[in-house]
Amino acid sequence: MEKTKVLFVCLGNICRSPLAEAVFKHKVKQLQKENDFYIDSCGTANYHVGDPPDSRTIANAKRNGIEINHVGRQFSGEDFERFDFIFAMDKKNLRNILQQTSNVEWQNKVKLFRSIDTSDDELEVPDPYYGTEKDFQHVFEVVDKTASVLVQVLIR
Ligand code: 4NP
Repeated sequence: MEKTKVLFVCLGNICRSPLAEAVFKHKVKQLQKENDFYIDSCGTANYHVGDPPDSRTIANAKRNGIEINHVGRQFSGEDFERFDFIFAMDKKNLRNILQQTSNVEWQNKVKLFRSIDTSDDELEVPDPYYGTEKDFQHVFEVVDKTASVLVQVLIR
């Protein structure tokens, strides 16, 4: 059976989306479903192409029991073909992605990550880049909760 291909997208691909990728992979693995999924992340900006995730994100994730392994890359038009689901971390990134295609079928693959979790009204994962450890921990908790919902939605 074809894998379900899931892409997480933020701005820099060093804080939010590599965390979402790692947390979602962890949850899929716990359910022994890793062979059913291809999971990746990228950024709409190109500032951190080739870079590892932010050291604060790596350290925070580790404290929460999650190992992150990723190399930064920028979103490209080919991602519309390659992925089944494209989850943007905030509205600005959602708009940026949607502007890159006029194909409605491709546009329909793109959603706000937090829109999956209907138990709260917040739709954006806040950017922690200029924040403190408290902000990184908040991002972790949001991503962890949303990824728990997503895994239940996508598991087959
Ligand atoms: P991310 O956070 O989009 O969650 O990876 C950011 C990373 C870098 C920058 C902004 C946000 N930056 O301006 O370099």
